Amino acid sequence: MSTRPFHLAWFLQGSSVQAWGEPWTGHIGTSWMQPQLFLDMARALERACFDYILLEDSSYVGESFGGSTKIYLENAIAVPRQDPSVVAALMTQVTSRIGIVPTFGTYAYHPYLLARLVATLDQVSDGRIGWNAVTGSSDIAAMNFGMEGMPEHDLRYDMADEYMAACRGLWGSWQPGAIIADRQRGVLVDAAKVHAVNHEGKFFKTRGPLNSGPAPQGQPVIAQAGGSPRGRRFAAAHADTIVVHVKGIEAMKAYRDDVHRHMAAEGRDPSRCKVLFLINPILGETMEDAKERKARRAARARERIDERLAHFGKITNIDFGKLDLDRPLPDDVTTNGHQKNLEEFRKVAAGRSIRETMASFNAVDLSVELCGTPDAVAAQMGEAMAEVGGDGFLFSMPNVSRRILAEIEDGLVPALQDRGLMRKAYEHKRFRDNLLAF
Ligand SMILES: Cc1cc2nc3c(=O)[nH]c(=O)nc-3n(C[C@H](O)[C@H](O)[C@H](O)COP(=O)(O)O)c2cc1C
Repeated sequence: MSTRPFHLAWFLQGSSVQAWGEPWTGHIGTSWMQPQLFLDMARALERACFDYILLEDSSYVGESFGGSTKIYLENAIAVPRQDPSVVAALMTQVTSRIGIVPTFGTYAYHPYLLARLVATLDQVSDGRIGWNAVTGSSDIAAMNFGMEGMPEHDLRYDMADEYMAACRGLWGSWQPGAIIADRQRGVLVDAAKVHAVNHEGKFFKTRGPLNSGPAPQGQPVIAQAGGSPRGRRFAAAHADTIVVHVKGIEAMKAYRDDVHRHMAAEGRDPSRCKVLFLINPILGETMEDAKERKARRAARARERIDERLAHFGKITNIDFGKLDLDRPLPDDVTTNGHQKNLEEFRKVAAGRSIRETMASFNAVDLSVELCGTPDAVAAQMGEAMAEVGGDGFLFSMPNVSRRILAEIEDGLVPALQDRGLMRKAYEHKRFRDNLLAF
């Protein structure tokens, strides 16, 4: 049983009505435009010493269920959803240590604009910004930006590799110490320390130097979630932290080992990237209480098969509304979207109908089963980490409510701290330094 601390982060499903229809969410249907819940969340998770909050994003209204936006709009499935940079900026102003990680798609921003936005966020947060670098996956999103559709899956990662090189160049265009702010001489910037970039590649062209000035972290933290073989290579090449959705200890271990192999091949030290696994712990005052809550959550997932398929279809570009849900998923259904998720769905299906598969697919447990009192769940998390070898977990709860936050901050985290599994105070001021502290 490990007593080494591990890292915790939170996956916020967009600054949106993410918890519509869930219990204990008050008037979220009308209050969601104001950021109070998300700011309370940032404060609570900072008190709990989390490493970061990742703000998910997509920039389209789903219409891949029966070719209509109806089910998405009626059930608040990833819509409405605010621009993550705004809420991220506000979160930085009510916190001082936790990392804030908005998602931006490489298809949606020119590298110069992205580099400037992320550098600015890093400045206003005093070095606490990460960028969840995603390639995007939806043809509808691509069309919202004037493209005909998304480039092919692996090509998107080739483009993102070059995109990353352009951004790194721009962030590097200000050498450390470039801002001298010498009032005696009246000189603000040492011009010899600010360089042009002139990136001209196969897909992108930028110039620079970046006019925002430097990012306090130099290179802001990069988060990634590539699941496919090509996605993993991309993540291993660039990421400081990877969030992973695989099921079971063996798969978790295999994923981490694979990423470490890819990192070594890239000449990177594997300890420089923290791999966090998705969890959805169910807490109760007693084990019976927790089990009842789990049963209720599973029942609720079974009642919402169409909605959950609509969400799954949104990220895989598969229109489940046009398929016979009482038959298995046809073999010829493939995706140019999130390949790893479809692969996991097929694994769980094992010949069962789409409806039956969806009843259990990601219904309650994610990477590992976590259910019980705070102390029992803390022990289960410790055991899982001891077997996998590191580095931590990403909470992916079906909703954020103040009740859930209190259960984590005041229930689970103290139990983890008592076991030496979680820090009691931040070691450093800046995000990457805290990620690398253990
Ligand atoms: C925890 C988690 C968070 C993710 N967040 C986003 C997101 O906000 N926006 C997005 O377009 N994709 C997001 N993705 C999808 C990944 O970027 C990636 O496309 C997916 O994991 C499938 O990997 P693959 O593209 O290599 O097949 C997320 C994936 C995971 C596991």
